[in-house]
Amino acid sequence: MPPATEIAAPAAQLSQTTPVFSPSDVTVVFVLGGPGAGKGTQCARLVAEQGFTHLSAGDLLREEQNRPGSQFGQLIKDYIKDGLIVPMEVTIKLLENAMTEALRQKGTTKGRFLIDGFPRKMDQAHKFEEAVCPAKLVLFFDCPEKVMEERLLERGKTSGRTDDNAESIRKRFRTFVETSMPVVNFYEGEGKVIKVDATPTPEDVFKTTNKLLTEKLAFPRGP
Ligand code: C5P
Ligand code: MG
Repeated sequence: MPPATEIAAPAAQLSQTTPVFSPSDVTVVFVLGGPGAGKGTQCARLVAEQGFTHLSAGDLLREEQNRPGSQFGQLIKDYIKDGLIVPMEVTIKLLENAMTEALRQKGTTKGRFLIDGFPRKMDQAHKFEEAVCPAKLVLFFDCPEKVMEERLLERGKTSGRTDDNAESIRKRFRTFVETSMPVVNFYEGEGKVIKVDATPTPEDVFKTTNKLLTEKLAFPRGP
């Protein structure tokens, strides 16, 4: 994790008009879906199968929250507990830093990223594409609330997450419908969304996802 000072000074970088990464070098796939839809599970499989780097915005926020000395720790904690969207400057900077670090570790300027749980709000979408990297595709895992609720309550038995409880789950569903679905709809209008039914088993969801994503990466405008 970078020191907080690096994250605390995003304004200059975020106001730039040329993205940090060029889409000819870096492929970005956003991964969206309600809480408990299976985004993380599917991303892990895609990493193994297709060599993507998986970055979960929620995981990066939790890491930053727990980093000793972080000036955003309490803020992130409060937002997550209430299922609200953390101000985009924090999340975007964490993602940019993680992308830079992943490429540095691989010693390359080219890479493919699954950005999981992001963008959750329209302002994040616009700012990320303008300042960090334009997105190629959006994977959307579609799942009824009842199924997601069951999964989250089950996960809550062992996840240790402060937001895997009935009250926080209700708030997270509301945020998803009101704030994050407009992002999915926006990208749908751009023809970038791959929609997958997330109710079958993880194995079956993966088969569909892997097939559709492979096709769409090879033929973005359809075969
Ligand atoms: O994706 P995940 O379920 O791990 O996200 C947990 C929480 O992190 C969200 O409910 C939200 O409070 C916060 N978050 C955010 N902005 C994002 C992703 C997650 O504020 N782009
Ligand atoms: Mg997750």
